[in-house]
Amino acid sequence: MRKKLVVGNWKMNMTRAEALACVEGLIPLVEHATINNPHVEVGICPPYLAIDAVSHMLRGTKVAVGAQDVFWKESGAFTGRVSPQMIQEAGCTMCIVGHSETRGRFGKLEVDASTLGYFAETDETVNLKILCLIYHSITPILCVGETLAEREAGRTDSVIAAQLKGALKGIDGSEYTSGVVAYEPVWAIGTGQTCDTAEAERVCGMIRSVLAEVFDEDTAQEIRIQYGGSVKASNARDLFSQPNIDGGLVGGASLNPNEFGEIVRAAS
Ligand code: PGA
Repeated sequence: MRKKLVVGNWKMNMTRAEALACVEGLIPLVEHATINNPHVEVGICPPYLAIDAVSHMLRGTKVAVGAQDVFWKESGAFTGRVSPQMIQEAGCTMCIVGHSETRGRFGKLEVDASTLGYFAETDETVNLKILCLIYHSITPILCVGETLAEREAGRTDSVIAAQLKGALKGIDGSEYTSGVVAYEPVWAIGTGQTCDTAEAERVCGMIRSVLAEVFDEDTAQEIRIQYGGSVKASNARDLFSQPNIDGGLVGGASLNPNEFGEIVRAAS
């Protein structure tokens, strides 16, 4: 049986002091929400500079810590980048990769088009990051998802299949059984517009079929597939009760300990 996994992605929010205050509030709520349910795992991904302090505070609790991104080299002249060893040393056991925001794909565009190239991550860089994370035994959370234009053009499934195949190239199924995929429709991220539950389940089922094609059926059945995009306490239970949705990747709602605690409860 696949365990549910609820992960908060704090994005570029929270100073170190704010992060610690949030985590302090979160610990008892998560303990309470999961007390009778060992089948739920919880993680949070703070900004890099808060990871060390947050993981120190979370030591001995049920909440794991992850990074929001990583670079694929061990060390060297890569100004501004952070290596897998660095995030691991700071306490990370998981890492988000290929988030639509690092791919430069936004639901509501808030950056000037001229700076978009800065974000432009490709399936190749996502693949390199996953290979490196696996090598370091850090769980990758691979994000895939279509933009509104792609959905309206009927390209949802083909865009996602291509993202999966590109990101998982050269990886053996046995190396990805503890890996995670997050289905995050770009148009649903930070917009308040959640994907309809039936459609989210359909796409997560389609993702599982592509994983069976890339790896094999047994591996596809083991991999957790999360839904992400305006998950909140009010819609989490419905989403997480679907057979192919194994939890959520939660952005905005994870910044509020009470709301996030309720979302964890919905997974329990
Ligand atoms: P959101 O973000 O919950 O604020 O929509 C989700 C994500 O980007 O992972």
